[in-house]
Amino acid sequence: MNSEVAEIRSELDKIRQKCLSCEKCPLCKTRHNIVFDDGIPNNKLMLIGEAPGFYEDQQGKPFVGKAGQLLDRIFASVGLNREKDVYICNTLKCRPPDNRNPLPEEKEACWEYLEAQISILKPRLILLCGNVAVQSILGNVGGITRIRGNWYPPESAIVEVFGAKMMPIFHPSYLLRNDTREKGGPKWLMWQDIQEIKREYDKL
Ligand code: URA
Ligand code: URA
Repeated sequence: MNSEVAEIRSELDKIRQKCLSCEKCPLCKTRHNIVFDDGIPNNKLMLIGEAPGFYEDQQGKPFVGKAGQLLDRIFASVGLNREKDVYICNTLKCRPPDNRNPLPEEKEACWEYLEAQISILKPRLILLCGNVAVQSILGNVGGITRIRGNWYPPESAIVEVFGAKMMPIFHPSYLLRNDTREKGGPKWLMWQDIQEIKREYDKL
C-alpha cells in the first residue's frame, strides 16, 4: 500500500472509531453495529445511501441486503465493482427502528461523519442514492423522479463537496418495489443513469 492510501485509511479509521462510541442521537441505543463504509476508499466514485437496514445493522456493512445485491448488479452491468471501484457509505451510520425515514435531528447529529468521509476522500463523482441522500447534500431540489440522472455541479451543493460532481439516482429498494422493465420505467432509467455514470467515470 502506498503511503497516501495508508494515510487515507488511517484518517477514515479515526472517524470510524468516533462512530463506534457515538451517542449523539437515540439510535445508538437500538443499533447492533455502526455501519460506516464498504468498498474501496478512492478519489473517484462515492455512493451515499440512506441508512442501514436490518442486515446492515447485523453485519456492520452498508448495502448487504436485497437492495445492496441489486446495487452490486447495477454496478456490474457497466463493469464497476465495489471491491475495486466504489466507496459506499450512508447518510446515517445507525439503523432507524423498522427502517423508518431518518429524522432531521438524526441526520444533523450524523452529518459530521459523512462530512468527514467526503472531506477525506474528495471524490470526483458522488452518487446520491435516493431522496434522503439528495436532501442532505443538495437540499430541497425536488423529488428524485424529476432530478435523477442529472449531474449537479459542486456549487449547487448546500455543503462543501470539494469539487465533486453529483448525480441523484433512484434507490435500489425503490427499484425492487417497482419492478417493471418497460421503457421509461424506473429500472430502464437506472440503466441509462449507470451508463452515463460509467462514461463520466472513464474520463477521470
Ligand atoms: N439502504 C441504504 O440506503 N443503505 C444501506 O446500507 C442499505 C439499504
Ligand atoms: N424515494 C426515494 O427516496 N428514493 C427513490 O429512489 C424513489 C423514491
